[in-house]
Amino acid sequence: MERTTQVPHSDIERQLEHCRAIAALTAQWPEQPLAFVDTYGCQQNEADSERIRGYLRQMGFGFTQEEERARIIVINTCAIREHAEQRVLGNVGALVHVKRRHPEQLICLCGCMVQQPQVAEKIRQSYRHVDLVFGPHALWKFPEMIHSLLLHRGRVFQTPDEAGSIAEGIPVVRQDRVKAWVSIMYGCNNFCTYCIVPYVRGRERSRKPEDILREVEKLVRDGYKDITLLGQNVNSYGKDLAEPMDFADLLEQVNAIPGDFLIRFMTSHPKDATQKLFETMARCEKVAPVLHLPFQAGNDRVLKAMNRRHTIAQYLDKIRALKALIPDIVLTSDIIVGFPGETTEEFEDTLRVLEEVRFDALFTFIFSPRAGTPAASMDDPMPREEKLRNFNRLTALQDQISEEKHRAYVGQTVRCLLDGLSDDSRWDLTARTPGNRLVRVVGDRGALGQFRDVRITDANKWSLFGELV
Ligand code: 5AD
Ligand code: SF4
Repeated sequence: MERTTQVPHSDIERQLEHCRAIAALTAQWPEQPLAFVDTYGCQQNEADSERIRGYLRQMGFGFTQEEERARIIVINTCAIREHAEQRVLGNVGALVHVKRRHPEQLICLCGCMVQQPQVAEKIRQSYRHVDLVFGPHALWKFPEMIHSLLLHRGRVFQTPDEAGSIAEGIPVVRQDRVKAWVSIMYGCNNFCTYCIVPYVRGRERSRKPEDILREVEKLVRDGYKDITLLGQNVNSYGKDLAEPMDFADLLEQVNAIPGDFLIRFMTSHPKDATQKLFETMARCEKVAPVLHLPFQAGNDRVLKAMNRRHTIAQYLDKIRALKALIPDIVLTSDIIVGFPGETTEEFEDTLRVLEEVRFDALFTFIFSPRAGTPAASMDDPMPREEKLRNFNRLTALQDQISEEKHRAYVGQTVRCLLDGLSDDSRWDLTARTPGNRLVRVVGDRGALGQFRDVRITDANKWSLFGELV
């Protein structure tokens, strides 16, 4: 495998110099300038936005959620399904009017959607109020691009088509004080036939374990209690390192960091989830008893057409092995309904997997063709109504299972992390069980950020309800 390339430290240092130069400029403006960073899509994008905010703060910017007050608007986009793209385009279109009132405003689009050449071209031609477009590979150069726009105006497009690199040392401003994301790797090599991710985020590359461990140690020192290790396929972590190591070993090392905190990780690919990983999860007391293991479809012919490279029998074997080691494991999955050529009979195999595994929750999607992926040009004869009918059967079955699984908590006392204040006056706080189920809690709001016993009093298909003990 190719060695990972790291952005030299001196290059990041140069970006920080751009930040300082911009900060010197903005310090002379009558008021502190504000930035609005809007994020679509997955946790990886949330993590990227935290780095964009980190850079912005070094440039002297504060933050706002109001477009009208923002000197810089950054929209971090998602390309996974058409629906995500339509929402972004609608919102970007509406910004024309905002910018007319504030001509000095800089509008920036970044992330997976604009890394697609046809989308970048569309922005260039038809969204002329957008000043800056940059893909995931160019994120580390954000200060240099903003500096150029502040000095010379014009438009900047940076969507280099490359395998990708790793940039350490970018500042971050985190959105939460209890939960934190830590990217451990970037990109994907799997090329599932429906998926755009490998095209826009490049090849798999892993951060060095020492950089990851240092980041987690700092988070724990800063009081973070819930740390999620992120990657498109964390189970292939480390294969590209100069000294290869595997994900289970990394998990073991993160678990050895002293402190009272939980470790989660996502996403795992079934073909790379090993017995060693399951044993490590069972042994490491800080690793939460939860696994997100997408199987996408329950039929082997469909899995093959998706290029998933495992069978359902293999998937179910892994689930059985995991349940034998961790009986209370919380399981979640992603499913696509209506992959090209999937018949309703084949779809029913997906329902059988649900009944056998009894997932705690699912993320369900209707297939959305993505330009440039193999599945986009496959024959797709099933009418949309039939796909929708199947989709509704799937969610109805899962709702019933989720509710039954949630009901089983009623009467138990569970040690939960109080992770937020409730925005609904019937409850005071939100909490998460170790398996990441949402609990709405009545009790002292001062418990925010602590692990506390919660007595579960009620449940429905979406969440649990309880009170602080
Ligand atoms: N259409 C529908 N769902 C998709 N996913 C990825 N690509 C597509 C697509 N083209 C789903 C998969 C993946 C999740 C993040 O999004 O289920 O696991
Ligand atoms: Fe997409 Fe498959 Fe990679 Fe996941 S493993 S990001 S679904 S190509």
